[in-house]
Amino acid sequence: MKQKILLLLTALPTICLTSCGERHYSPADYVLEMDYVTDFRVLQITDCHLGDKDDLQRHFDFMDLTINEADPDLIAVTGDLFTYASKTTAKKFLDYVDGHKVPWTVTFGNHDEQCFFSIDWLTNELNNYGSYCLFKDIQDDDVHGNCNFAINLMKDGKVFEQLIFMDSNRYYFGSYFGYDYFKQNQIDWYSALIDETTKNNDGLVVPSLMFYHIPLPEVNDAWAAVKEGTATNVNGGQQGEDPCNPKYNSHFFDVIKEKGSTKGMYFGHDHVNNYIVNYQGIDFGYGVKATDRVYYQDSILGGRVITIKEDHTMSYQDYIHTYEEVK
Ligand SMILES: [Fe+2]
Repeated sequence: MKQKILLLLTALPTICLTSCGERHYSPADYVLEMDYVTDFRVLQITDCHLGDKDDLQRHFDFMDLTINEADPDLIAVTGDLFTYASKTTAKKFLDYVDGHKVPWTVTFGNHDEQCFFSIDWLTNELNNYGSYCLFKDIQDDDVHGNCNFAINLMKDGKVFEQLIFMDSNRYYFGSYFGYDYFKQNQIDWYSALIDETTKNNDGLVVPSLMFYHIPLPEVNDAWAAVKEGTATNVNGGQQGEDPCNPKYNSHFFDVIKEKGSTKGMYFGHDHVNNYIVNYQGIDFGYGVKATDRVYYQDSILGGRVITIKEDHTMSYQDYIHTYEEVK
């Protein structure tokens, strides 16, 4: 009898996984590819916050200043694309980005669900967009969130650098209300991805960069280390506000350090912070806000190019513009 109960209990997780519709996929299923070119330029734009009440053309004209000047190989939008946007507005923005005829991708922010559509609708739009869009979310998988995938930059038939995009999720409604955090199954997914990429590269770890929206709790330690003189403020950027990051620390940073692949982590969320701190060997970088929607600082609007060099080091250039230029 006891054995029968044990068998039943053992079978329960499998039954639940099946009934919940969550399937496990291999790391290779989450990977897209594009060619690496020397001094590969990723333009990070962030926190556009476009909504139905906005003069979209005014913002598109403004973002054009940065995108055209930056001449990127890939555009990465790191969340909060929308606030109170309809499907029509969302589609106009996706078409606007795609119109630059440059590969582009997206991670989601906490406000991308504060719209007249669901995050699943937006995910589906991006999954099926085609054209220059490089986005992949597996919607029936066992990994939390809606944009966990990688773009492998290929050179001579091998993965030269891996760009990892993750969903830092939105809000936590448990024992407290606050910003959500990376779940354990996302951390496990990251580990499996790095392990698989390493295995396929003759056991050598491939350098990677990460893009997401809400900064890890450790960004506080990084800025404190700058103040103490034990970490470097790489770009001389400012902390214009205290980071609004998750209260709960799921210790993702410890895993990232242990794996030894990720050299830079780029995010948005806090609109008037734009520093990049090299902390414990990893660059923590706030992006440059892309529009004057919600709150902002006139002197730090535009975008940032992260250049990935042949020796795998990164350099940074901020492109700053003002709305005076598009009046
Ligand atoms: Fe934002």
